[in-house]
Amino acid sequence: MRRPLIAGNWKMNGTRDSVSALIDGLLVGAVDVARAEMVVCPPAVFIAEAAARLDGGPIALGAQDLSEHAAGAYTGEVAGPMLADYGCRFVIIGHSERRAFHGEDNALVARKMTAAQAVGLTPIACVGETLEERESGATEAVIGRQIDALLDGPGVGALADAVVAYEPVWAIGTGLTATPDQAQAVHAFIRNRISARDATVAAGLRILYGGSVKGANAPELFTMDDIDGGLIGGAALDANEFLTICRAT
Ligand code: 13P
Repeated sequence: MRRPLIAGNWKMNGTRDSVSALIDGLLVGAVDVARAEMVVCPPAVFIAEAAARLDGGPIALGAQDLSEHAAGAYTGEVAGPMLADYGCRFVIIGHSERRAFHGEDNALVARKMTAAQAVGLTPIACVGETLEERESGATEAVIGRQIDALLDGPGVGALADAVVAYEPVWAIGTGLTATPDQAQAVHAFIRNRISARDATVAAGLRILYGGSVKGANAPELFTMDDIDGGLIGGAALDANEFLTICRAT
């Protein structure tokens, strides 16, 4: 049985005050969300503050990215050991915004998976197709390559301690959500692709859906067989909305 996971990706939003208020609001409501595992991923600069507030509570801490390197002369980067030092348990890797705006490719995402796991962080590896790719019938080819890079690099065993997030690029921040059937089809494709290497790992892997998930559309999405939770952007910035999504699992 896969425990549902709801992760909030706060992206580049917030102030010290708003982050504190958001966490406090989530902690008040989190008590009755026993079924779902909850994670929040603040901007790196707020991780220390978030770690102090979340300490020992029911909500886990994650980061939005990490360097493939453990330390050294990499100006502006944040290393996995630093995140682990602050009690992060998860880290998003390969988000489409990193791929599009920072030139991250499948090979780098695979190396980031290894870097995360080296310090005990659970990677949330994002995959997804653009609208152009979907409309040209390339969705499975694109996602197949993104998944194969993880299977060929870190290896299928690494996916036993990882989470995958399917985020169609055309659904991120657009208000356009994949229909439950569209999302389920891609989630099943991902699980089958991994199952061809290791059926046990595939059966245990949590695959999250991300892309304009809200309290209103979450219940339908989460009833699908291969959707094990969500990676939430905009709606994760509102404590009540995020908690509503968590309760939909
Ligand atoms: P939205 O929920 O704002 O569409 O963002 C999804 C996302 O990119 C989460 O990583």
